[in-house]
Amino acid sequence: MPTIAAPDTSALVDSFGRHVRYLRISLTDRCDFRCVYCMSQDMQFVPRAQVLTLEEILTIATAFHDLGVTKIRITGGEPLVRRNAMWLIERLGALDALQELVLTTNGSQLQRLAQPLRRAGVRRINISLDSLQPERFRRITRVGDLEQVMQGIDAAQAAGFDRLKINSVILRNRNHDEVCDLVQFAVDRDMDITFIEEMPLGTIDDHDRAEAYYSSDRVRSDIERRFPLQASDETSGGPARYFRIPHSRTRVGLISPHSHNFCDACNRVRLTTEGRLLLCLGQEHSVDLRHVIRSHPGDESYLRQAIVDAMRIKPHGHDFALTEQPVILRHMNATGG
Ligand code: GTP
Ligand code: 5AD
Ligand code: SF4
Repeated sequence: MPTIAAPDTSALVDSFGRHVRYLRISLTDRCDFRCVYCMSQDMQFVPRAQVLTLEEILTIATAFHDLGVTKIRITGGEPLVRRNAMWLIERLGALDALQELVLTTNGSQLQRLAQPLRRAGVRRINISLDSLQPERFRRITRVGDLEQVMQGIDAAQAAGFDRLKINSVILRNRNHDEVCDLVQFAVDRDMDITFIEEMPLGTIDDHDRAEAYYSSDRVRSDIERRFPLQASDETSGGPARYFRIPHSRTRVGLISPHSHNFCDACNRVRLTTEGRLLLCLGQEHSVDLRHVIRSHPGDESYLRQAIVDAMRIKPHGHDFALTEQPVILRHMNATGG
């Protein structure tokens, strides 16, 4: 019989002494976009029978909360295309010791859902936006409509979140020349912005990742030609290094898995839509929590014990390399970002 019966707020420590306080939950691997760095043209999605129910996700999230997790980020795929996503988000918003309930989205559903999300207690939203040019936006997302996302951003601004952040994945010769325009957009909108180096998850058919690599250092020097950047030691709890733009509230973040590895400070784990607990974005180490909860319905002590035990196999970090064949075969949409 597992030994953990009561909540223990210091239980989640891995073998390198890192405290895990941040859970990323993927509500679905499905998406209404097909971004070229995230998916291949023909994606197979997880069959519905293998997907956790919203009740099962709530059970797992509650166990993490009892074990000391203070930040939950809802991700996907596109989390807001999951039917009844708001049912779950409202219940997560009611977990009393949770300091931050946040969401990463492509923005397509925000016109409809920004207000309900705010009411449910979501504090911050990160919105993917790689281009301000409609044709180019369509090419990168394969099917996305820039206007729809812009309306989503408007709705999110009107709903009054604590902070909104743009996420831009920068690819050489696709959108690298838009870095300064994207910063200007963020400044004009009083939002933060993060530039991300593409990570090699899953096989993609659109481009050669080594050829499209555009380092955060290049992004930084491009920005510095137009904006003064002041280094800052602020954190949003994620992997970005931040800079301030004087006379604005905008923070510019750089997420640089290749050029400035941040694994030493890792504080997070991920729950996939199938109930696999991934202990690192860039490794395969995982525990099948769906099996644990379906084998012991109504007794959450097994689940809590499985989560505590999982910390022992959290690897030190990723081994990303820009080789032809990615080491990690699952795509970003199946990983939860
Ligand atoms: P904040 O809470 O605002 O700091 O968010 P975040 O940057 O942690 O989350 P978001 O979902 O916006 O992700 C931005 C990018 O960071 C995505 O490309 C993620 O895949 C990447 N990312 C998040 N966590 C990790 C991590 O542990 N390792 C790596 N390599 N990338 C990560
Ligand atoms: N590398 C880096 N970032 C990625 N994202 C999706 N796929 C990749 C990738 N291969 C980003 C999305 C979104 C966030 C969750 O992850 O643009 O902003
Ligand atoms: Fe969808 Fe986000 Fe992947 Fe784009 S990056 S296809 S919006 S899950």
